[in-house]
Amino acid sequence: MKYFIFLILLIGYGALLYIFYSVYSLLKGRFGMFAPFVPSMGKSKKHMLDLAREELEKADKQMTVIDLGSGSGSLLLPLAREFPEHHFIGIEYDWILILLSLFRARKLKNIEWHKQNFMNYSCEKADIVFCYLLKTMQERVGLKLSREISDSCVVITELYPVNHLHLVKAIKPTLNLGIPVYKMRK
Ligand SMILES: C[S@@+](CC[C@H](N)C(=O)[O-])C[C@H]1O[C@@H](n2cnc3c(N)ncnc32)[C@H](O)[C@@H]1O
Repeated sequence: MKYFIFLILLIGYGALLYIFYSVYSLLKGRFGMFAPFVPSMGKSKKHMLDLAREELEKADKQMTVIDLGSGSGSLLLPLAREFPEHHFIGIEYDWILILLSLFRARKLKNIEWHKQNFMNYSCEKADIVFCYLLKTMQERVGLKLSREISDSCVVITELYPVNHLHLVKAIKPTLNLGIPVYKMRK
């Protein structure tokens, strides 16, 4: 009985912490101006990673992969382990997530994290850019990327495509149950 009550309390505190963090993340994103923290997962995460793998596998030089809003690092970490010859950069403005990413990547030498607003980070040197877009971000991020990226750079985005770039491939979930993924270029 004692253990059961302890378990219930633990779940309750965990849920409370999650609710507080979600409100903090929404406030930080100014209620929709920027995406709150939602980890990439399931099929959409797999599609994002597979599209990046296609590019990384055929590369004949060191590639730079930039994740705009890297969250807990769940896109960059598996790729950095799989492709030690390529370079990975996560940009995230939430220090809690930066600390978590630093800890998770402590054994990796080919990955770096920047705690800053990604709108102020240049993507000029990127070969692949990841982002997770809300509708409110399509125009701003689209203008930024179309100004900064090279013709060979591939942009892989979750949820919404980026304005001002050309669609190369769209992977839509069946019956709209899930998150679409888009591959785009200048
Ligand atoms: C939907 S989550 C992406 C999560 C990530 N793909 C993962 O799997 O952990 C969006 C992330 O972007 C971050 N973010 C949103 N706007 C940002 C901005 N302007 N500058 C830096 N980070 C930002 C949020 O804090 C959040 O962690």
